[in-house]
Amino acid sequence: MKILIVDDENISRKILASKMKGVGECVAVDNSKRALSVLKAAVKKGAPFDLITLDVSMPGMDGQEMLRYIRTNEIRDKVPKENRVKILMVTARMNMNTIKACIKAGCNGYLLKPVSRVQLMQNLAKIGVDTSGALAATGDETSHTAVVADIINRFYSGKIALPVFPHIVQEVQDLVASKDTSIDELGQIVEKDIVISSKLISIANSPLYRGMDTVDNLGAALLRLGMKTTQSVISAVAARHLFSSSNKPLKHELERLWVHSFATASLGKRIGEALGSQKNDNIFLLGIVHDIGKMLLMKAFMDICPEESISDQSLQMAIHEIHTTFGAALLKRMRFSQNFVHIVEFHHWNTFGAGSEQEMLILSVADHLAYELGYGFLRTAEHRIPDGQDLPQNQDGGPAEEMAATDIDARRTKSLERIGQLDALKHLGLSPEAVMAIGEQISPVIKETAKKF
Ligand SMILES: [Fe+2]
Ligand SMILES: [Fe+2]
Repeated sequence: MKILIVDDENISRKILASKMKGVGECVAVDNSKRALSVLKAAVKKGAPFDLITLDVSMPGMDGQEMLRYIRTNEIRDKVPKENRVKILMVTARMNMNTIKACIKAGCNGYLLKPVSRVQLMQNLAKIGVDTSGALAATGDETSHTAVVADIINRFYSGKIALPVFPHIVQEVQDLVASKDTSIDELGQIVEKDIVISSKLISIANSPLYRGMDTVDNLGAALLRLGMKTTQSVISAVAARHLFSSSNKPLKHELERLWVHSFATASLGKRIGEALGSQKNDNIFLLGIVHDIGKMLLMKAFMDICPEESISDQSLQMAIHEIHTTFGAALLKRMRFSQNFVHIVEFHHWNTFGAGSEQEMLILSVADHLAYELGYGFLRTAEHRIPDGQDLPQNQDGGPAEEMAATDIDARRTKSLERIGQLDALKHLGLSPEAVMAIGEQISPVIKETAKKF
């Protein structure tokens, strides 16, 4: 495989070339003009390049312009789609609108600087390059990265079983989507499933949905929740099953991930309510599935390496790096809506342009807020809270109960500061205090409610 690396920074070219070890033969150039002449010469020689990596921001013709230039020429020359050169964009700034524009212009994927091996392998697998040879050639097939890369390879070649939702989820979805349906009809479907029925009653009585009095039957629970909320709650109950395992250490990690996902979902729902959003049920479900990529990657990893420690930091970082693109690909295969797929793919980006979906902005804020409140998932200091300050956490996820009052105040001030810096929050037009107040209001009931699902 012939690879052309285009980047104006020397160090970036070196890093990328080293990550390409075993993948193919690399040529690196520092600007687009030179790149175009190298490409032309290769075609002339009858040995064109198979893959190009393009730095998004370069002086002169930038990556995006060069991408458009190449694709326009290919269309003009009537090059069939399957024969067009594969192009991966490389960017340091996580600016969503730029990457969206590149995807529209025909790039095959994107890499975030500093580019890691696992990120690269994920992109290669996605565009149909068999990376197993590369892994074997470099001798790193026993490392975490290699195992994760192998899982991705198998996923994209359809060799990994997808998580399955019970039939009732689809049935309810169809019913809610069709016109003129009644709560009674919904009840007829739901009552067939005793486990889900009893969970719905318990959830309707939980602090997240509680009304004035207790409901004790399915009909009353459905009336309280309404059609749309019932649908999202049923999907969440179904998703809950995916966060379980018979392997004890894995089960523990999945439990923590569930609490984090549930916290993000509940916080997102409440933020949506505060903003008068009509899509709160969608936001809730987005929160539940936003880290689904991690769930499947952890399970697949333990299937292959049952003796390894699932909480190992380097492994968790490898998983973290690709969980958004992987999660999006997974949801796509599970036939989730395009909107869900898109939001899950970009939920960790930090610069959102004007016109970004409100659900995406809310999810981003809710995910951060969950960390600030002690419902984070990653254990590394830099991810637990962005400035590296540690937040005490219970073993099973969620904040520790005991903390000195002065510590709580100091932590709160820092949290407000960090939340205030979130680009998503600025677009939503909410104050950090308002978001924090929402978080503090439901934080105490998150764990208790998470168990009801
Ligand atoms: Fe995430
Ligand atoms: Fe998350």
